Formats: sequence, C-alpha cells, structure tokens
Amino acid sequence: MGIKIAIVGASGAVGGEFMRLIEQCNFPAAEIRLFGSSRSAGKEYKVAGQLCKVEELQDNDAFRGVDIAFVSAGGDTSRKYAEVITRHGALMIDNSSAFRMAEDVPLVVPEVNPTDALVTPRNIIANPNCSTIQMVVALHALNKITPLRQVHVATYQAASGAGNLAMEELRQQVRDEAENRPLEVNKFAHQLLYNVIPHIDVFADDDYTKEELKMYHETQKILHSSIAVSATCVRVPVLRAHSEAIWVEGERAITPEEARRAFEAQEGIVVVDDPKQLRYPMPLLAADQDPVYVGRIRQDIAHPGGITFWCVADQIRKGAALNAVQIAEWLIAHGRFAK
Ligand code: A2P
Repeated sequence: MGIKIAIVGASGAVGGEFMRLIEQCNFPAAEIRLFGSSRSAGKEYKVAGQLCKVEELQDNDAFRGVDIAFVSAGGDTSRKYAEVITRHGALMIDNSSAFRMAEDVPLVVPEVNPTDALVTPRNIIANPNCSTIQMVVALHALNKITPLRQVHVATYQAASGAGNLAMEELRQQVRDEAENRPLEVNKFAHQLLYNVIPHIDVFADDDYTKEELKMYHETQKILHSSIAVSATCVRVPVLRAHSEAIWVEGERAITPEEARRAFEAQEGIVVVDDPKQLRYPMPLLAADQDPVYVGRIRQDIAHPGGITFWCVADQIRKGAALNAVQIAEWLIAHGRFAK
C-alpha cells in the first residue's frame, strides 16, 4: 500500500527528523512532497531514496492527492494554511500548538489515547507539546495502578525545542566563548551557555508561562481526567532531549516497586534505574533514540504514598516527529487509508 505524504517545514529541526524517520521506519510512502516558505523553496533533499524539491506553501491546490501532511512550521503557519492543506482530504498531523485544545481536534499520544485519532471532523490531529508527550507516557503507566490526582514537574528543556536556529545559537555561543568573542543572543531571552532560563514561551496572566499551562491543559485532554499539573519549565544548555523531575500523587498510595513494574510494562518506556552503578537517564543517552527513559524511581519523602522519578526523551523524536509518525502508523494499521 502506498501513502502520499507531505512534510511542511522540511528545512526545520522537526522537518529534518520527519525525513530521517520516513526512511528509518520504512514508512509506506508512495510519494513524498516537501513544503516550506520562500526561504527554502527549491532546496533539494534526498528522502528514502527519492530526490525531493521543497515547494513553497501557498494558497493553492498543491495538497490534492496527499493522504497525510506532517506539519511543523509554527502555529501561525498551521493556522493560516490548515484549510489549504486539508481541503482535498489530506489528514494534517500538526506539531504546533494551534489546534491542540480545539474540541474537534484530537490530541494524541499513540501509547496513551490512540483511539482518539479515529474521530477527525476537521481532518486535523494535533501532536502534543514535547514536554507533555514524554510525561503523559509515564503518567499513563502509573494511572493504571490508581487514578492520579496531582503532578508537580520541573523540566530541563533542550535548545532543540526552539528549533534549528536555537540549536545553532547554543553551538555558536560555545565557539564564541572559546575564542573570547562576545556572545550573540537572539532565540532565547538570555544567554543559554553556562545558564538556565526559567522561561519558555510567553508569560500568562497568572505568571505561569504558556509552556507550563500547556502541560496542565494538554495532560487533562490526553488522559481524559481532571489531573492537576503544576509545572516549572526551564531551558538548559543541552542540544536535544528534554529531562523532567516529576512528583505524583494518586488516589491511593503507590509503592516504588509497583511504579517500577508499571513503567517496565508500559509500551514506549525503557527503565534505566540503577543508581549504585551510576545508571539513570540523561539527555546524552536519549538523544536520537525513540523511547521515553525513566529512572530515579523512589517514594516521595515529602508526601508518603507519592512517587517521584526522572524522565528523559529526545524532544525532536518522541517529543515531535516520532509521535506524529506513530499516529500515522497506528491509523494505517487500523485501516484509515485503505483504498
Ligand atoms: P523555511 O526554512 O522555508 O522558512 P525550526 O522549527 O527549526 O525553526 O523550523 C521552522 C520551519 O518552519 C522551517 O522549515 C521553515 O521553513 C518553516 N516555515 C516557517 N514559516 C513558514 C511559512 N510561512 N510557510 C512555510 N513554512 C514555513
């Protein structure tokens, strides 16, 4: 069976990962089209053995015949072009935050709520926020022990979450620092090298950032629960892979042994938890890998019955492109594109 796909935002960090994944996953792509703005239009990429030229995203009928459009070109582009992309029946799997909380758009993590992807009145499925994706896979495992009520999380988010130019800014700061040149700051509010920045996305009226509020609202939508998530989201000078320290409380007490068994049984999770051997998840372990890594599992000494753990995943893969490709694969396996 051949699926006709489009990748919108091909020149970006997530777009590049889509192209690699299509090849690595042997995705059944009969035709691959690439889209971008006028900045990258005409650029050529080799994807799964096919030479593909970037087309400029415009208000036209270019998406006629496309089955799935993987879109990662920012919220404004998604909002502006959603109708163009979907008007001839293409399914848009959108990586931006533009449609995540819309009632008629499912928000899907395949290990957690795959069947939500079956109802797509607008032909749009939203990929959750990167920090939310890895956290909900872990919460889903614990939720099977007892319904979770409350979560506290502190994130340690890599530069990759802000795109290719942000990763390049961090690399450039390393080079400039080594050569005693002044450091340039464009993509972040402050210098990231030798620093951590407790500020991702813009501040909302309640002094949480929008990134932190995404973790609150998106988790409820994905888990179909009233679980309360209080997050502090922090940018750290890591290139790719986000880390999270997480504290959870359920309706009943959870033991560390139960939590470990639940994590080990959860599709998508790899437990790395042997502190005596200095083994625990880290961004350098997770970079370029598919799983959500969980470790440092222990009883919360500040809340008897609560569990605290550490969770790391590659933001560009499971936090973005891989999750979207897994949604498409699940739908293909369930007959969505049978012709
Ligand atoms: P382009 O390079 O052609 O402007 P990142 O997240 O790594 O910063 O990448 C953002 C991606 O979004 C790039 O591929 C960029 O393409 C794409 N993009 C941004 N604005 C538009 C737009 N108006 N139309 C199409 N693609 C866009």
